[in-house]
Amino acid sequence: MRNFLIAGNWKMNGSTAMSNGLTDGIVAGMPASERVELLVCPPYPYLGTVAARIAGSGLRLGAQNVSAHAAGAYTGETAAAMLQDVGCEYVIVGHSERRAMHGESSEIVAAKFCAALAEGLKPVLCVGETLQEREEERTMTVVSEQLKAVIEMAGIDSFSSAVIAYEPVWAIGTGLTATPEQAQDVHKHIRDVIAAGNEQVAADVQILYGGSMKGENAAGLLSMPDIDGGLIGGASLNAADFLAIADAAAAQG
Ligand code: 13P
Repeated sequence: MRNFLIAGNWKMNGSTAMSNGLTDGIVAGMPASERVELLVCPPYPYLGTVAARIAGSGLRLGAQNVSAHAAGAYTGETAAAMLQDVGCEYVIVGHSERRAMHGESSEIVAAKFCAALAEGLKPVLCVGETLQEREEERTMTVVSEQLKAVIEMAGIDSFSSAVIAYEPVWAIGTGLTATPEQAQDVHKHIRDVIAAGNEQVAADVQILYGGSMKGENAAGLLSMPDIDGGLIGGASLNAADFLAIADAAAAQG
């Protein structure tokens, strides 16, 4: 049975004081369930201090972005080896905000996915459609294409060391959430795409939902057979709100 992964993407929010307080609050309230894994992805400057605070707690650490390059003259970029060095286990790649606002094509996302894996980091690959793409009934095609770019570059077996997050763009930060059924349909599709290459990898890969997930809607989403957790933005900036989602996962048994 797959574990739940409840992941907080803090985006470009916080300060030293805020990230320390949030980390301590999460560590203090983590559910005891062995089926629920918790992950926080703070901004780069706070990764080292958060890593020190979570030592031995079981709370996992990830970054929000990574360079596709291993090292060298790439001013302002951060290499996967550096993230690994400061204590990250995970890194988000292909978030829609980076695809839309930072010009990241599916090929760049695939290269970042490979760069993360090369240093032993688990990529959290984000996929998802815009509102226009949903209205044009292109959701499954868009998601398939985003997955295909990574499958072609990294190979299907790489998904045994990765996580996928389905984040409908229209649900991110909007207060609109996909219904459990809408999300389940896409999660099932994602698992089918992976299964076409390797059924065992598909059966094992965690597929998270992201987009206005919060304590009040988490139980319905997490009860779906192909939803294995959440990638949470707004509600991950407050320990009680984030832990309410973790508790909803723990309550699934
Ligand atoms: P919200 O939870 O704020 O909608 O953000 C979701 C998200 O983009 C997580 O990566």
